[in-house]
Amino acid sequence: MANIKLSFILNRKPYTVETDPGKRMLDVLREDLGLMGTKEGCGVGECGACTVVLNGKAVTSCLVLAGQMQDAEILTIEGMRDDEIGRVIQDCFIEGGAVQCGFCTPGFIMSAYALLLENPNPTREEIRLATAGNLCRCTGYVPITDAIEKAAKTLAK
Ligand code: FES
Ligand code: FES
Repeated sequence: MANIKLSFILNRKPYTVETDPGKRMLDVLREDLGLMGTKEGCGVGECGACTVVLNGKAVTSCLVLAGQMQDAEILTIEGMRDDEIGRVIQDCFIEGGAVQCGFCTPGFIMSAYALLLENPNPTREEIRLATAGNLCRCTGYVPITDAIEKAAKTLAK
């Protein structure tokens, strides 16, 4: 199949790529753009490791076709250091021991980012709901929920 040309904003910069229309957004990010921070766990929408923010909403990039990137605004973990919300979330994860093996971490941070964009003052229940699609084998979830709660409080100061 012929390649398609896609233009989008990624981590606040414009990009144009030519790619196979059968690819998923996850493949475009990792294979075409070399952004390896977005992880592939299950590949079927169940683990959240591949979560990115697409037009302000958290999505599992293993379930998004490349064509859906056209004209979109996309944020990945690589863009979080240049963003106040992203930076605070990352710092709270590190300081709070919410990162162990780290495989799930980019996905959790992107889910947390989308939550705090929409709801800067979430309850613990809302944090759990917003991250319910993200699986972690290591932390038991409590430090992750604590880190997101602390990030919201820090950003509100
Ligand atoms: S790799 Fe996409 S949800 Fe698991
Ligand atoms: S820190 Fe290892 S899977 Fe979450």
